[in-house]
Amino acid sequence: MNKTAVMLTSILATSLAQPAAIAGPEEDRAAFVRYFQSRFPDVEFDEFANGIYAIDADSRRQWLEIEEFPPYEFAIEQGESEWQQTFANGRTFADCFAQPSDSIRAMYPRYEEARGEVVTLEIALNDCRAANDEEPYAYDAEELIDLTAFLAFEARGKAVAVRIPADQPGAIAAYEDGKRFYYSKRGQLNFACSDCHITSVGQRVRADRLGPSLGHTTHFPVYRSKLGGMIGLQQRFLGCIRDVRAKPFELQSTEYRNLEFFLAYMSNGLMINGPGARK
Ligand code: HEC
Repeated sequence: MNKTAVMLTSILATSLAQPAAIAGPEEDRAAFVRYFQSRFPDVEFDEFANGIYAIDADSRRQWLEIEEFPPYEFAIEQGESEWQQTFANGRTFADCFAQPSDSIRAMYPRYEEARGEVVTLEIALNDCRAANDEEPYAYDAEELIDLTAFLAFEARGKAVAVRIPADQPGAIAAYEDGKRFYYSKRGQLNFACSDCHITSVGQRVRADRLGPSLGHTTHFPVYRSKLGGMIGLQQRFLGCIRDVRAKPFELQSTEYRNLEFFLAYMSNGLMINGPGARK
């Protein structure tokens, strides 16, 4: 084992914090929230939407300074002009959605019964392009990330509200799959997401402190100063999976969409506050 692995292993020698009795998504979510609230009794529920900045006063100060001149502002502006652009057939993105632009972010991810799969905002936007005879974007294309930045900004203050209807076994199966992924060990370092973002939350890993998974999805996409650009939620999944030296999946693969579905459900009731700024 190398130095990093030894350090991480010792960090993770604390007890594993899987939610106890598993009755269904709502019970899971309640246990998830209870866990973080008992670990951080001074942190208000709404604050968990701010990730690591909810629990780390030092980095919070730096972040609040960054937020005075938000580095993601350009992405919002670009996204807005993308949104308003007319396709060759004269239609626009807005024509694909029944809802106004401030009510779209909160609709995704969602399980679409007719398709038998979880549809994310990125998929819905690309479907819209395809339906209008435009080339879909690559899932890491700046245009697509900027569109999600604009729609997140429009939706600020609306609650995350992922639905898992009890009469949709496919939705429950997708949720269970995402949950299994989240708690499964992977990679040469043999870590599950939960090992870092539940069990060891608050601890340091190299220069970073580990943030809570409650609220993980509310603020994406984010501007990462380390990268000097915007990334989407699934690009972050990919980064964390690479960090444990596991093989990453494709962006918008079934695995990542189900994981997003599970994680977004865990954040139900928190306010959308994207786009965000992160180290
Ligand atoms: C070895 C520890 C480790 C593992 C395992 C890990 N992560 Fe992370 N993750 C980090 C660190 C460090 C950061 C940056 C600090 C922070 O925000 O938590 C981070 C950040 C994130 C963020 C961004 C948080 C934000 O507020 O912007 C998300 C989302 C995330 N991880 C999801 C996952 C998922 C999903 C998995 C499992 C596939 C996972 N992580 C596995 C260490 C880990």
